[in-house]
Amino acid sequence: MVELLVYFFAAVILYINVYLLLKFIEYFYCAFIARQPPNVTSSNAMKQKVLEQINTCYKNAKNICDIGSGYGSFTRFIAKNTKANVIGIENMAFSAFAAKILDVFCFGKVKTVKADAYEFLDKTNIVFDVAIAYLGPREVQKLKKYKNKIRVLICLDFEIRNIKPTRIIDVGHGFTTFNHKKYPHKLFIYEFK
Ligand SMILES: C[S@@+](CC[C@H](N)C(=O)[O-])C[C@H]1O[C@@H](n2cnc3c(N)ncnc32)[C@H](O)[C@@H]1O
Repeated sequence: MVELLVYFFAAVILYINVYLLLKFIEYFYCAFIARQPPNVTSSNAMKQKVLEQINTCYKNAKNICDIGSGYGSFTRFIAKNTKANVIGIENMAFSAFAAKILDVFCFGKVKTVKADAYEFLDKTNIVFDVAIAYLGPREVQKLKKYKNKIRVLICLDFEIRNIKPTRIIDVGHGFTTFNHKKYPHKLFIYEFK
């Protein structure tokens, strides 16, 4: 019994250490090499509010895109709860790889692409009915350029400057901290077409 407990605690400590090491590599890579925000998963409240918007205002959406999809939990959540097919675009190799494996459970409704989101949007011929972006305050500005590829853009927490959102939805329940500044959870919805 004691031996079993020792193995159990050793396994827990190993798991925590591996997790912390992977997180450290990810944060280091994002901060100093890719110079982009790290993978922060959106909260359940944010996911529910986005879903509510899609299923009430854009229920005929066929193509949805998650720009910067991380491990893909948001992408899969949207695929499971809407009629649309969802593409997740993620440039971090490990996150995209893990997401591709987990996408199998969505039986073809989700596809994760390992790519830089802006390069992908430059090249693709797809026009997305809805695109979701939970990026950083600087990165999100680059999405202005893709008005011809995105009909409705839902930005989480970070607003696009100089474009008036069609709607702003207050999510409540917390905020995202970026560069020591707190951004309350909100959806900035832009209807381009
Ligand atoms: C805040 S996380 C959001 C993850 C997920 N969409 C969610 O809401 O739970 C942002 C993700 O975008 C990715 N990312 C940032 N810039 C990107 C880019 N230019 N191209 C593709 N992915 C990017 C990051 O690696 C990270 O996984």
